[in-house]
Amino acid sequence: MMRVLVTGGAGFIGGAVVRRLLADSGTIVFNLDKLGYASDLTGIQQQLVGSVAERHVLQQVNLVDAETTVAAVQQADPDLVLHLAAESHVDRSIAGPEEFLASNVSGTFNLLQAVRKHWEALPRERQEQFRFHHISTDEVFGSLGKSGRFSETTPYDPRSPYSASKAASDHFVNAWHHTYGLPVVLTNCSNNYGPWQFPEKLIPVVILKALAGEPIPLYGDGANVRDWLFVEDHVDALLLAATKGKLGHSYCVGGHGERTNKQVVETICTVLDQLRPQGAPHAGLITLVADRPGHDRRYAINASRISSELGWQPRHGLEQGLEATVRWYLSNLDWCQAVLQQAGYSGGRLG
Ligand code: NAD
Ligand code: DAU
Repeated sequence: MMRVLVTGGAGFIGGAVVRRLLADSGTIVFNLDKLGYASDLTGIQQQLVGSVAERHVLQQVNLVDAETTVAAVQQADPDLVLHLAAESHVDRSIAGPEEFLASNVSGTFNLLQAVRKHWEALPRERQEQFRFHHISTDEVFGSLGKSGRFSETTPYDPRSPYSASKAASDHFVNAWHHTYGLPVVLTNCSNNYGPWQFPEKLIPVVILKALAGEPIPLYGDGANVRDWLFVEDHVDALLLAATKGKLGHSYCVGGHGERTNKQVVETICTVLDQLRPQGAPHAGLITLVADRPGHDRRYAINASRISSELGWQPRHGLEQGLEATVRWYLSNLDWCQAVLQQAGYSGGRLG
């Protein structure tokens, strides 16, 4: 039975990966997470029924602690590692960059060292099958003008503390491949959205502010562009790249979902007008606020490599995915309140 170590499995995307592995494969999943402010296991726990429960092992570990990380990797004894653990919110990286350096750079370094030790000691047959998949972001490529898209050959140009820390972690992963031969695959993905996302990122923030009748904060002029991807489509891409991607290669993953922030916010408001009419259109709550410092203007992904080499395509259009996401949040408002309270975050402006 295959043993998979997922780091960051109590987070938004890692949680979706863990749920998919538990549902669709017979793998034993070792879920390594420090259980930080953005972590929550509710969605996974709902699935831990009968024999599935025996295939999920939670490891509460902070990757910043090298010794505990080595012990966790030894306990997991993995055939495949999916590394998602990271501090992930750009606004928080502006307010407190130290944690991003610690978790995303030192944490990745400690994991690489622990995994190398494990991989080097594996019997030949398992060693040849072993893979380490590093999950990164399109933000390492910087900011686009009006035209063009990021691809695997775009030079790195990170511009926020978050993206600088992710770029550094990508370089460490590549260095461990070239220097030590560690069998790695990387993916660089655009903005994810969907169920179970901690309500600090744009889409859940907008839904909760609109429902509360509070101002919906739109940074700057609202014309910054992101390329939105439904989280389950990202999981499809991750599992393909992890198992079939070429070693030493990276794959860009995007949703063909380029929109301005204003367009995204207005679409959510329109969906809410239909599902939760409140007398006046929700779009009346949209409020331009001070811009994010160093705000990247536009991201867009050319996903032709993963599409042609591995046959990946997103299955959800943005409008369809947004409506499903709004419906999910409407049915899970108690969860939103619980995680916000647990994190000690009241929804105020960060960064
Ligand atoms: P998230 O913040 O929801 O979850 C991250 C998880 O990692 C949390 O549970 C946190 O506790 C854990 N973690 C952080 N530091 C850790 C440490 N030092 N030790 C152990 N666990 C630690 O983030 P997410 O949105 O699920 O993102 C997951 C990964 O995907 C990140 O690497 C992120 O950079 C990348 N990514 C995210 C997006 C996106 O739109 N959310 C897009 C592209 C890439
Ligand atoms: O591109 C991939 C990245 O996408 C991931 O690597 C990051 O982990 C993830 O957080 C996300 O980064 P962004 O900064 O693009 O996501 P965020 O949801 O914070 O913001 C999306 C856009 O919306 C961005 O242009 C800033 C803007 N924004 C955000 C918030 C929270 C607003 O206008 N108002 C807001 O309240």
